Amino acid sequence: MKRDPVGFLKTEYEELVAKAFDWKIRVVQGPSTPRLTVDGKKVIMFCSNNYLNLSNHPKLVEAAKKALDTHGAGSGSVRAIAGTMDLHIELEKRIARFKKREAALYYQTGFAANAGLIPQLVGEGDAILTDELNHGSIIDGVRLTKAKRYIYPHNDMAGLENTLKQVDKEGARRILIVTDAVFSMDGDIAKAKEICKLAEEYGAMTYFDDAHGEGVLGEGGRGIGSHFGIEDKIHVEMGTFSKALGVVGGLIAGSKDLINFAYNKSRTWLLSGSAPPATVASCIAAIDVLETEPHHVQKLWENTRYVRKELQSMGYDTGNSETPIIPVILGRSDLAKQFSDMLFEEGVFALPIVFPMVARDKARIRNIMNAGHTKDDLNEVLAAYEKIGKKLKAV
Ligand SMILES: Cc1ncc(COP(=O)(O)O)c(C=O)c1O
Repeated sequence: MKRDPVGFLKTEYEELVAKAFDWKIRVVQGPSTPRLTVDGKKVIMFCSNNYLNLSNHPKLVEAAKKALDTHGAGSGSVRAIAGTMDLHIELEKRIARFKKREAALYYQTGFAANAGLIPQLVGEGDAILTDELNHGSIIDGVRLTKAKRYIYPHNDMAGLENTLKQVDKEGARRILIVTDAVFSMDGDIAKAKEICKLAEEYGAMTYFDDAHGEGVLGEGGRGIGSHFGIEDKIHVEMGTFSKALGVVGGLIAGSKDLINFAYNKSRTWLLSGSAPPATVASCIAAIDVLETEPHHVQKLWENTRYVRKELQSMGYDTGNSETPIIPVILGRSDLAKQFSDMLFEEGVFALPIVFPMVARDKARIRNIMNAGHTKDDLNEVLAAYEKIGKKLKAV
């Protein structure tokens, strides 16, 4: 047989296009602000994870500029060799203080934290229990372990307990429960208190991916542990600076033992270049802002409550959303895509989420709230929803 080494690249891409599963990339021209230009059109941003609009905060921008002058453009190495600058250490101290935990570690991205740490926490003879709706970076982290994998039904505590009983009976050495804190497609929150209670009962380790809770949930945006007052029950609080904190980079917070273990074992941390100083300085500034300017988080929640209530009163199904992620569940994929295109024409940038990211009959528009939106911005978006919904008979 004569092999075609690269033919699959084209055929698989074309298959994606034929099924409309390919990504149509829109281009943001200029900063990612609540009102911005996308593909040459002026629109209201309704799908960015920049929840608190911190990516445009002057303190973050200034900090990056200053660090360029004082520390240069790059770190020059991986953290473990020569790429740990005083800024990285300061940031980790600030994260630990902000999260009210003993210690913290900063990774290049949240994906790198999950892919690097999860496979080190469990191995041969262990069990890893993972929510069926967990993020892809957790899924990849789980795939890298030699531990036996158990997927439990979404946020289903009876399902989790049954699995815990099973792995306990099978004699698992260690047990790790890993879950998103806020689920990114539905905007619902993990039943963290119940998960931690079950974990305690079965001697399991708990790992919460708070990518969408960091800067959003809890006192001053301190995340899921603070939201439920269970910081001491969560063994690994993982988060990201790429969403509400407006920059980029992953974090874990927990005990000193966790951090010592994590930085010595996570291959993504040990074997990949460290974040540039300007990025790290902006992350420190983001924590400063959260500690001193509580109105950003308050405004985000005000906007969230308003939009969810208004969408629901128009008759839209917002599913189980409890956070600034507000899906409008429309059902068919083609309807969601058409709806999103029409929103764009009306000046609203909100993306459709379709199968395989969600079930075939649960296609939706995923709206993400932003503290930088004014009431006028929100009313404009809501008017577009009203108009398009009627036109497409979606409500
Ligand atoms: C739940 C969740 N975990 C992890 C990540 C990855 O974070 P980062 O963007 O910092 O790589 C994301 C980002 O999409 C996410 O939504």
